[in-house]
Amino acid sequence: MTAFRSIVSGCGSYLPEKIVTNKQMEDIVDTTDEWIIERTGIKQRHIAADGELTSDLAVKAAQRALSDAGLSANDIDLIVLATSTPDQTFPSTATRVQAALGMTRGAAFDVQAVCSGFIYALATADNFVRAGQAQHVLVIGAETFSRILDWKDRTTCVLFGDGAGAVVLSAGPSTGTNKDQGILSSHLHSDGRYNELLYVDGGVSSTQSTGFLRMKGKEVFRHAVVNLASVVKEALDFNGLTSDDVAMVIPHQANKRILDATIRKLKISPSKVAITVEKHANTSAASIPLALVEMVKENRIARGDIVVLEAMGGGFTWGSCLIRW
Ligand code: UT7
Repeated sequence: MTAFRSIVSGCGSYLPEKIVTNKQMEDIVDTTDEWIIERTGIKQRHIAADGELTSDLAVKAAQRALSDAGLSANDIDLIVLATSTPDQTFPSTATRVQAALGMTRGAAFDVQAVCSGFIYALATADNFVRAGQAQHVLVIGAETFSRILDWKDRTTCVLFGDGAGAVVLSAGPSTGTNKDQGILSSHLHSDGRYNELLYVDGGVSSTQSTGFLRMKGKEVFRHAVVNLASVVKEALDFNGLTSDDVAMVIPHQANKRILDATIRKLKISPSKVAITVEKHANTSAASIPLALVEMVKENRIARGDIVVLEAMGGGFTWGSCLIRW
């Protein structure tokens, strides 16, 4: 049987035009620029315009990723889109993106794992490629978290932003060793007992409303550092690699202090960690592909490099993905 690896053949991202600075947040809630920067590293966030939907952001990111890969929409066999802020309860945002891209073949669906969504989407897409069921897959993380924020709750509304990022995965050859180019492994976890630490207080089946994001930040922080360090270690051990082999870590961008504490635990140099939280804030499922695109643009990732993606979010869900670039 032929074996395949998923190679990242293109990537692209999109951020809404409107930027809201911490200073502007001071006019909305009882907060300060200093508090937000000191506790989170965030300086600004992008906010979608009225009528600008998650699928609009996703389509723009997807078009850029397709163009980067040198492919057209009808070359794509599958779209896997991670979001917790879909345009509609159904159908999936992925099918809206499919239509907007003019893609008339293949399949499209959403995955929901909150801030770990992009890792879950990537792992799902990778399995389709490895199984020989798809040659090119568009994997998208897209969010309009501004729509589920309680803009009177200073403990949450300062933390999040809107955006989208996408990658194209294309099937390449595999020898089954860690010398292959492409996704070497992904590792997913969840523990539903922690629902009440990070959730939205509404939903179709419970309240017939959308609800607002609620978080016990301190507790989430504590779990995040432990789970993220352990899931990166799991990926390295699985592939017979160590922290020294890592060229770049692309973490979910929730809080600079979480990123710092996690890499300290892993003994990875801060120079090898992508940090975009100051510009984008926490864009949930979009944060990893947004950061990845920045690292690619800045030429901070070279062919053959070991790149580790990691995320943790509501559920709890967490996961990692190890790629030889
Ligand atoms: O992406 C999914 C995963 N999510 C995360 O990873 C988020 C994890 N958690 C965090 O990032 C941090 O816990 C926060 C940034 C949310 C909060 O930072 P913290 O250092 O844990 O602060 P805290 O919640 O302990 O609050 C400290 C103080 C409190 O006042 P008192 O009780 O000490 O008087 C808060 O009321 O800061 C106050 N506070 C604020 N002050 C100014 C909370 N939010 C704000 C605010 N501006 N926006």
